[in-house]
This record gives sequence, C-alpha cells and structure tokens, in this order.
Amino acid sequence: MFSPQGPSLRELCIQALSSVERGYDLLAPKFDHTPFRTPENILEATAHALSETGPFGTGLDVCCGTGAGLTVLRRLCAQQITGVDFSAGMLRQARTANPNTTLVRADARALPFTGVFDLAVTFGALGHFLPAERPALFEGVYRALRPGGLFALPIGAPPPLTSVWHWAELGFDLAMVVRNAVLRPPFVMYYRTTPLSAVRRDLTAAAFTVESIPLTAVGRHRDGSPRCWLVLARKPAVQQPSG
Ligand SMILES: C[S@@+](CC[C@H](N)C(=O)[O-])C[C@H]1O[C@@H](n2cnc3c(N)ncnc32)[C@H](O)[C@@H]1O
Repeated sequence: MFSPQGPSLRELCIQALSSVERGYDLLAPKFDHTPFRTPENILEATAHALSETGPFGTGLDVCCGTGAGLTVLRRLCAQQITGVDFSAGMLRQARTANPNTTLVRADARALPFTGVFDLAVTFGALGHFLPAERPALFEGVYRALRPGGLFALPIGAPPPLTSVWHWAELGFDLAMVVRNAVLRPPFVMYYRTTPLSAVRRDLTAAAFTVESIPLTAVGRHRDGSPRCWLVLARKPAVQQPSG
C-alpha cells in the first residue's frame, strides 16, 4: 500500500493517535508517498470535466494538503490560485512544490475569504469533517466564491456490499469510533459519513445549486456503478434576498 519512501507502521500509529492537524504535520514530509494523496486519475478526470465548464479566473483549493488540487487549479485558472489548510507541515510541503501560489493557514470550518474566487475545489478531505461540521464548511466556501462561482468536489461512491472495500471502510470507521471514544484529542476521519446524498443536501442548504456527474474515467464497481462522482455546486449569479 505504501512505497518505501512512505511512513512506517509505527509512524502511522503515532499520527493516528494525534489530532488531525498534528497528525498531518507529522505525516507531511512523506504524505506524497501515501495513498492518502488524491490519485492522479481522479485529479485528471476532475480537471477534464471542469475544463468543459471554465475558463476560470481565481481558484481556491480547500484542505490543499501538499497541493494535489492546486495542480488542477493551475490548469484551469487564469489568475491567482490559493490553497488553504490548517496543517503548517502540509503547507510547508505545498510551498516547496508550488512557489507562485498563495497558501493560507486556516481552519476550513471558518474560511477567511469573502467573494474572491471563481472556482473552489476540495479533494480527499471531507471525511475529516463530522456531518454537523459540514454546514460551516460549505457556508464558508459559498461566502468565499463570487456570485456565479463554482465549488467542485469529487466524492467516492460507496463500494457494493460484496466488495472487500466495503468491509475495509466499515472496519476502519468502527476502529475510529472506538479510538475517539477512549482517546483525546480525537482524530476525525470517517469513510462512510459523506454519502453523495448528504453532501448534496448540505450544499443545497448552503444555497448552492447542485448537480453531480459520474467521473466514468475513474472506473466502475463490479456492479457497473461509477466509483466516483463529481459534485458541481454553483453559487447563483444573482443573490436571492435573505428572509
Ligand atoms: C487526506 S489530506 C488531502 C490533501 C489534498 N487535498 C489531497 O487531495 O492530496 C486532508 C487534508 O485536509 C486538511 N484538513 C483536515 N481538516 C481540516 C480543517 N478543519 N481545516 C483545514 N484543513 C483541514 C489536513 O491538514 C490535510 O492536509
């Protein structure tokens, strides 16, 4: 699962016993050698789908980590691109690989931007947010976008019950529930708390207009269903009066 340059089992255990922020600080130098970095086929399929919607001006990668999503934004955005993450260690790695990018250290549950981006993306990070935290995340992205701006996020479809991955994800989430019941600080990472339907519902509640398209280039499960969807959440160009 990991290349020789990746973290050892001992290092992974120490990281999993830390907070999310501290865990990623520790993992950062070896993160790009783990399967936790968003794979190229998902980045490529997302960039391809969005190239049919663009071009875009400014771009934001939410929970940018070492910068996987920044490579997508660089292809699609003609103006400044920005990455935001709360791990200083991950941002240090992103800075080395992305010298001309604005990198901001902030908690994605309280994004510090208003009306500045035409495109926002997030890759591989939704599992770090409890369902109750998603509204703050999505409202922050909505606020960060210009009217008419687009928030794009690929979401993995749950593997079928007959797949070994279904049971692996279930086992991982149950282990996390137990870990977080007995240890502080919590390490929030769950695979099964961000189904497409719940993400769409929360984005709609944040006032986005939502559609989702299958990323067929990422492949299909054995039952023929797509492995990955791209959710496209649009901030209306004309703001509705509140109340
Ligand atoms: C699995 S990594 C994904 C990184 C990158 N987007 C990618 O696809 O390779 C998750 C990232 O989310 C960041 N993260 C998790 N919770 C966060 C929060 N509340 N605010 C900001 N960043 C957060 C972590 O620091 C980490 O860099």
